[in-house]
Amino acid sequence: TDLRVVASTGSTNADLGALAREGAPAGTVLVAEHQTSGRGRLDRTWTTPPRSALTFSVLLRPSDVPPRRWPWLPLLVGCAVVEAIKQTTQLEARLKWPNDVLLADKKLAGILVERNEDAAIVGIGLNVSTRPDELPTDTATSLTAEGADGDRDPLLRAILRTLGSLVDAWQDVSGDPDGLRESYKTRCATLGRRVRILLPDRIVEGMATDVDTDGRLVVQPDDGEAQPFGAGDVVHVR
Ligand code: BTN
Repeated sequence: TDLRVVASTGSTNADLGALAREGAPAGTVLVAEHQTSGRGRLDRTWTTPPRSALTFSVLLRPSDVPPRRWPWLPLLVGCAVVEAIKQTTQLEARLKWPNDVLLADKKLAGILVERNEDAAIVGIGLNVSTRPDELPTDTATSLTAEGADGDRDPLLRAILRTLGSLVDAWQDVSGDPDGLRESYKTRCATLGRRVRILLPDRIVEGMATDVDTDGRLVVQPDDGEAQPFGAGDVVHVR
């Protein structure tokens, strides 16, 4: 891998997107010691105090991936992060659909996958040694706040390794697409919970019962038919 580290930048996703347009190869990784205008999902921002978080982006150039497999990429990145946390800290993180990484029901890491043409920019922000008083909300946490140690390097290496092997499996057209679905479901904290889905025009509340073959969250409202949702902001209720 081509690993670049910068002291400070606005957003590693934005920078790597520009490098991708200039022809940077698949596997290029951009790590920022500090990020000043990190981007989050759903047009949000992602803020981290200097040096306390792991903020980086990875460039993928998937080829020949069937369109129906693409929605799995953000979910797969979540699985890779959970797996790497387990390997390096023994902690069992879980995923709030689609890919918020939770520890003790609080947000530990966020993932933003942006696609432009044949490239995908996988951005990961993980609170490593952020002190409780520095966390942006009381629903956020960090590895050290949950008792793990604050070493960023082994974690970065573990994530790149787990991500690499899951991406290989995802790209392998002859491979079994159900394997990823099963492993996602075992790590998904949203299944079996009551959720509220905030959509642009309405709010749906019900039980999250499944993740379908397209990676969508299936919700059974109190009245009416179960429905799959491919986007939207999910809140765990109670
Ligand atoms: C979210 O939870 O909404 C996603 C947050 C993603 C943050 C990471 S930090 C590295 C990369 N660069 C960005 O600008 N965003 C992602």
